[in-house]
Amino acid sequence: MTRKLFVTTALPYANAAFHIGHMMEYIQADIWVRFQRMQREGNAQGGQKREVHFVCADDTHGTPIMIAAEKENITPQEFVAKIAAGRAQYLDGFHIAFDNWYSTDSPENVELSQGIYRKLRDAGLIVTKTVDRFYDPVKGMFLADRNIKGECPVCHAKDQYGDNCEVCGAAYQPTELINPFSVFTGSTPVLKPSEQYFFKLSDPRCFAFLKQWLNTPGRLQPEMVNKVSEWLGEAGEKLADWDISRDAPYFGIPIPDAPGKFFYVWLDAPVGYLASLKNYFDKQGLDVEAFLNDPAAEQLHFIGKDIVSFHLLFWPAMLNFSGHPIIDNLKVAVHGHLTVNNEKMSKSRGTGISPLRYLELGMNPEWLRYYLAFKLNAKVEDLDFNGDDFVARVNSDLIGKYVNIASRCAGFIAKRFDGKLADSVSPLGRDWICKALMHDGAERQASVAASFEAREYGRALREIMEIADVINQYVDEHKPWILAKDDTKTAELHDVCTTALILFRQLTIMLQPVLPQVAARVAEFLGDAELSWADTHGAAVYESMLGRTIGTYTHLMQRVDAKMVENLFDKPAPAAPAPAVAAAATATPAAAPTTDAGEGDGESDIEALAPTITIDDFAKIDLRVAKIVNCEHVEGSTKLLRLTLDVGEGRHRNVFSGIKSAYQPEDLIGKLTVLVANLAPRKMKFGVSEGMVLCASAADEKTNPGLYLLDPMPGATPGMRIR
Ligand code: 2FM
Ligand code: ZN
Repeated sequence: MTRKLFVTTALPYANAAFHIGHMMEYIQADIWVRFQRMQREGNAQGGQKREVHFVCADDTHGTPIMIAAEKENITPQEFVAKIAAGRAQYLDGFHIAFDNWYSTDSPENVELSQGIYRKLRDAGLIVTKTVDRFYDPVKGMFLADRNIKGECPVCHAKDQYGDNCEVCGAAYQPTELINPFSVFTGSTPVLKPSEQYFFKLSDPRCFAFLKQWLNTPGRLQPEMVNKVSEWLGEAGEKLADWDISRDAPYFGIPIPDAPGKFFYVWLDAPVGYLASLKNYFDKQGLDVEAFLNDPAAEQLHFIGKDIVSFHLLFWPAMLNFSGHPIIDNLKVAVHGHLTVNNEKMSKSRGTGISPLRYLELGMNPEWLRYYLAFKLNAKVEDLDFNGDDFVARVNSDLIGKYVNIASRCAGFIAKRFDGKLADSVSPLGRDWICKALMHDGAERQASVAASFEAREYGRALREIMEIADVINQYVDEHKPWILAKDDTKTAELHDVCTTALILFRQLTIMLQPVLPQVAARVAEFLGDAELSWADTHGAAVYESMLGRTIGTYTHLMQRVDAKMVENLFDKPAPAAPAPAVAAAATATPAAAPTTDAGEGDGESDIEALAPTITIDDFAKIDLRVAKIVNCEHVEGSTKLLRLTLDVGEGRHRNVFSGIKSAYQPEDLIGKLTVLVANLAPRKMKFGVSEGMVLCASAADEKTNPGLYLLDPMPGATPGMRIR
């Protein structure tokens, strides 16, 4: 029987280009899909054929995209189309072979989302309630969950969005946030009553279903079962109804029979998986309903650990109670985040990796695929990219162990045997083939296959490299380059090179899910129309290879040059000339340089010291430790960033600062810095600034244009006075 697989990755928000974290998830899923596709010929050991559908789409709805489009003076649809147009270069560049890339802003998604909603309503699982909704009094609009931040009510992490916590993963209502603030204006939102639609997750049917669903063996990683079980509570008492509606203006799908109300983006986003599949099936003339209703169809979602609540609570319940049988065969594979040198990536710290820069530098996408795969397992663990480790791993495994086999043997077949492999392999060669492909009496391909199937890619690649080690040992011991010098050893040379290339082909088949382009070149060179997993066992290992004429070997892969990796990282933010003091300053900077500063001393180019002050003068300035709880660009300003600061006063301060040239807003959020807290508030074009953050800068902006915010040592907390 054919296994029918429907595989997806999380649908990325259509508000920005891909970052390297997206690539990691897509590569993880793509490897699994390619492994499955290689099984389509069936498997001599009872394996099944696979029919695989691998789809994705842009996640288009919601307030952030609406606001971003507004800023560019274009429609949300135009905005989304612009982002979508940039997707192919990344996907093609990293050899990610989705069957379909679609959009949640599509007729299919409208129909499916509204259809699911109607079914849930018919099942008595939709209720309306008048609730207090956060409203930004300065901007004059209801705030979407992601436009409100505050402290997580569960783990008390600061700066968490209004819908779920990225630290502990909990889902909650924005009104449950502690000390909420609007990300647009920094103001404290006010509550306004509004009628909203809820999915009744508190219904006992939901608990009963979810408990059974979660605990189905093999469906979820054990750590996820534990986490979600906690969210359910002993008897479902922790499950709260889920608010699925948003008020106009909202870029989203209208709720049937509810004028002015739209589905919250997270209601229609996962439905986008089905919409993309339907669009793909329709284009192929295939019957998507038949597929989705087939009890044998399996669905696998690859997602990151930050969006678990949506995929393990709401989405399964939605699918189940809207009558989608595929829920019984839904699995979710959750991965951790990608870090760089064990830190969260940050452009301004120079640790960001741009996927496009990787490609522009001429770096081989399959190096990255291999490196990530080597570090991936089936656990929900973060994965660290380390430049030195990357260079060492790729050069040692791919060049030193894998490519090296072909480059040491293939030339002799071309030069000495007219490109023809031997018609048979000697008993010694067969012994080595057994030694390489068998372990403890079992075929290694079976355990490699089991590792790929279980998403234990690191384990699969370690086993493949063990095979490569045996093959290299064989080549080292039999030294074809020495045999080639002795005319009496021609048959032996033929035997050794044939044996080595038979094994090289085996390695290539097993590496194909990870290295599809290299594998395609090897297939061409060896004269295989395609490489199939069925050729990794039994007589298939040899039979088509013996006596075969192969093509000319050309070098398959370069070594990684460490310099390339250095250039891969974002440079710390370029610091263009900028005002050295924050825009909120009303006073003349105390340390204005004198005209002859530094002139003639030939030693130092620091700014001349300001006139001496007394301790009483200094005491007039109230400097405080401030936490940057939010930071964003200021529309219409090329120099300013808007900072929302917590100075321990039980309210937030709004401060404008001329540091846009030096920092990306997202890199400052969560950091501590130093604020002149008793500076008179200043009314500016963009709003009132309530203080000034301090920056270091050099006297000569031309030679050293850097601008550096001050960063208190660990242990300092918001509100502490600096004296
Ligand atoms: O977190 C995100 O990037 C979401 N756009 C993922 C959506 S996944 C699915 F539900 F569409
Ligand atoms: Zn939390």
